[in-house]
Amino acid sequence: MDKYELRIITWTGILLVIFLVSVLRGVSKYATDLPECIPYDASFTAPRISQLDDSTYQVFMLAQMWSFEPDEIYLPVGAEVDFYLSAKDVVHGFHIAGKGVNMMAVPGGINKTTTKFKEPGIYPIVCHEYCGSGHQHMKAEIIVNYPKEN
Ligand code: CUA
Repeated sequence: MDKYELRIITWTGILLVIFLVSVLRGVSKYATDLPECIPYDASFTAPRISQLDDSTYQVFMLAQMWSFEPDEIYLPVGAEVDFYLSAKDVVHGFHIAGKGVNMMAVPGGINKTTTKFKEPGIYPIVCHEYCGSGHQHMKAEIIVNYPKEN
């Protein structure tokens, strides 16, 4: 084997390991699962927040020109949240600042991720996919400020 070929294969292997370690480190640092697509179900596109128990929530988030619904989400510290995301009209972005959550909101599709809010604070959600003239106004907030009881 040519020595340059061997070097390229070696460096490719090293970069692949760095990439995989970075992904796994991100998953553990932000307590966020990798996003997944789940089978389409129209009931998942009705915006709402449901509480499953003391610290487990589901947020069904609908993106549309140019807002998210729900646009204010209040959670206790330690809440673990499943986000189900869809769009009404065009493709939108969904990024939760400080949480490593980055998904696309796609009409006719449901994307899901799970993340845990260990620290109190205000976590802005922004649309990071250009979706028309009001794109820059498209935002929501997660407010994590209630101490967990017990
Ligand atoms: Cu929605 Cu940009």
